Amino acid sequence: MDQEIIIALTKGRILKETLPLLAAAGIEPAEDISQSRKLIFETNQPDVRLLVIRGSDVPTYVQHGAADMGVSGKDMLLEAGGADLYEPLDLNISKCRLMTAAMVDRALPKGRIRIATKFTNIAKQYCAQRGIQADIIKLYGAMELAPIMDLADMIVDIVDTGNTLRANGMEPRDLIADISSRLVVNRAAMKRKNQRIKQLIESLRQAVEAAK
Ligand code: PRP
Repeated sequence: MDQEIIIALTKGRILKETLPLLAAAGIEPAEDISQSRKLIFETNQPDVRLLVIRGSDVPTYVQHGAADMGVSGKDMLLEAGGADLYEPLDLNISKCRLMTAAMVDRALPKGRIRIATKFTNIAKQYCAQRGIQADIIKLYGAMELAPIMDLADMIVDIVDTGNTLRANGMEPRDLIADISSRLVVNRAAMKRKNQRIKQLIESLRQAVEAAK
C-alpha cells in the first residue's frame, strides 16, 4: 500500500501511555502488544502499522523514513540532535526532567569534572554552554551508581519522582530540560502523504486535549 503509514512507538513505559492516546485517536493494535514478541503490528486501520522499538532508535527510523511518524521522548530527540524531524505535537505524556545530579552536599572538583551519562551529546552541549571542562563517561543505565563508586563526580539523567536519586544519596542540581513525549514526522512523508498524516496529527491533537 503506497499510502501506508508506519508509526514507530517507544516500548516500555512510554508505550503504556501512548496506546490510550492512539485508541482515542481511533488506532488500535490488532493484537495485545504486551503479549507478543513481534516488532510490527497491524491495526484496526488498514493503512496504519505500528513498530515497537527502543526509544533511542525512534528518531533514527523516522529520520531515515523507515517510519513515517514516531513517538519519542524529548530526551531522545535532544540526544539525537541533528535529526531533522518535524515535531508537530507534544503528547503531554511521560513527563519528567533531564537534570544533572551529584552526591548530597558534595562539592564538585575545582578543575575538570567527570560526568557519567547515557546522554553524552546533551552532556557535551551542557558543558560547552557553561564553559565546564569535563570528561564524559558513557553508561547504558544505573547512572546513579557512578558517583557512589567514584567513577564520576556528576551524572546527567532523567528525574521523575526523585526516588532513585534519594535512595542513592544523591540530589538534583541543574535542570537541563523539561521532558515529555513528542509526535515526530519524517519531512518527506509529511509532503508525500500530507492529507493522511495531517488527519492523524489532528486526531492525536484532539486525544491529547481530551486527556488534559
Ligand atoms: C530512569 C532514570 C532514573 C529513574 C528516575 O531509569 O534513569 O534512574 O528512572 O525516576 P525517579 O526519579 O522516579 O526515581 P529507568 O527505570 O527508566 O531505567 P534506566 O534508565 O536505567 O534504563
